[in-house]
Amino acid sequence: MNNVLKDDSFYKDVMGIEYLLKSNCSISEKPVVKSDRELLMDEVIKNISVCTKCVLSKGRTNVVPGEGNLYAELMFVGEGPGADEDEQGRPFVGKAGQLLTKMIEAMGYKREEVYIANIVKCRPPNNRAPFDEEAFTCINYLKEQIKIVNPKVIVCLGSTATKYLLSTDKKISLIRGEFQEYEGIKVMPTFHPSYLLRNQSMKKPAWEDLKKVMNILGKK
Ligand code: URA
Repeated sequence: MNNVLKDDSFYKDVMGIEYLLKSNCSISEKPVVKSDRELLMDEVIKNISVCTKCVLSKGRTNVVPGEGNLYAELMFVGEGPGADEDEQGRPFVGKAGQLLTKMIEAMGYKREEVYIANIVKCRPPNNRAPFDEEAFTCINYLKEQIKIVNPKVIVCLGSTATKYLLSTDKKISLIRGEFQEYEGIKVMPTFHPSYLLRNQSMKKPAWEDLKKVMNILGKK
């Protein structure tokens, strides 16, 4: 028996060793086995990628569905893609994204260990906030993503994420720092990284919010 296969206990578990022996395939030829979560998320992303339910789809270069660990205990929700995200099809890759990555790492996670998504998946023109009808339509994709990842905590970045996920009109400055709840999941609203780039003095209170999240997740 091929030694590589003999040691590959994950594959033995998933496919059954009989299958590998019969198929006589090498490790590089192994069929890809996707988990239920991966299959479900693939389906959501496929639907997002062809979505034309609102006008934002007309202006996009790429959809920005979200990315990260499908088994994440921590999820971040932003507002919507900016120019860099629209260009690359990935969330939070511009200046605000660099700060978000630093915040994630300061919390003791690698960026790829968390899941990151937005309220809307297509870039609003001139980076305006999404209109109600755009957010109400698109948030259904986010809700499906949350159901699949099922994180322990969601951090809502800024007022748009907080408004639409929690169905509240409370100002972010009033609601931030206190745990809220969405479908049994703890939600921490805090300032958006773009706001923090413009208001450096708010980094300290934002860090206090993130420390509360770390506490719940047993980090530090
Ligand atoms: N701002 C957001 O809210 N989301 C992104 O993906 C990038 C910037």
